[in-house]
Amino acid sequence: MRTKLTAPAIRARKVRDGSDPLVMVTAYDAPGARMADEAGIDLLLVGDSVAMVVLGYDDTLQVSVDDLAHHTGAVARGLATSSPAAERPRPFVVADLPWMSYHTTPVEAVQNAAALVRAGAQGVKLEGGRKRLPMIEAIVDAEIPVMGHLGLTPQSVHAMGGFKVQARDHAAALELVADAKALAAAGCFAVVLEGVPDEVARMVTDAIDVPTIGIGAGPGCDGQVLVLHDVLGIEDRMLPKFVRRYADLRGDAVEALAAYADDVRTGAFPAAAESYHLKSDVAETLGLYGFAPAVV
Ligand code: KIV
Repeated sequence: MRTKLTAPAIRARKVRDGSDPLVMVTAYDAPGARMADEAGIDLLLVGDSVAMVVLGYDDTLQVSVDDLAHHTGAVARGLATSSPAAERPRPFVVADLPWMSYHTTPVEAVQNAAALVRAGAQGVKLEGGRKRLPMIEAIVDAEIPVMGHLGLTPQSVHAMGGFKVQARDHAAALELVADAKALAAAGCFAVVLEGVPDEVARMVTDAIDVPTIGIGAGPGCDGQVLVLHDVLGIEDRMLPKFVRRYADLRGDAVEALAAYADDVRTGAFPAAAESYHLKSDVAETLGLYGFAPAVV
């Protein structure tokens, strides 16, 4: 029986205390979850980025709790059937609370967080600073681990006036540190820092006792997260500065599909070995002698 990475174990993973950096990647389906598990990833994020990366929307505002629960279930089922080469703890699954699922009342926030846990998540992530404290406290009180998300918070795309790097000036940097301290004090077990200057991410990382997990926040965080489709080079429409591609799976896939199309059109696929055949005595009773079309 494999052990699982837990929220308390993640909470203790500060690099300054000698821990290895945490590695998180998004996962939206069973094959993605299995690949990430087999690669030794620590945390899987069923991100609301599914809206843009998989479902073709322009922002993350278009997905619902039901959508996130659907993808969380697929990730959890994928993990249940994955077989990593090394016996390492199973990744911790965090599901994003989508926009408007935690913005009205703490009760609604808890109910939506519970729906994601029932779908297979071990914790939930939500965006925003001190104004989200009542919701964070209510979800933590319901015994559901909460991951915060500060800086460039994509659910605020319209309020921010676009996907822009945040906390670039003195006052905004101090506000971000204050938000992070408040989130940690409210019980968040980790905080994602997205799209903030390296120096500000380091200030936050020094200021709080729970790990920071950066995306576009420099190397000074306690961990890093990237979108699976960016890492694998499946998403090629945008290449933000903070993304490093480790493969060109989109290029490989287009090449493979073009070769398949070519083989079908030239008759090279399927070959005899890729087809089912009658036993020769049965074929003979049907008057079929071999596979040449002239005979058939
Ligand atoms: O939804 C997502 O992919 C995220 C990451 C960018 C952290 O929230």
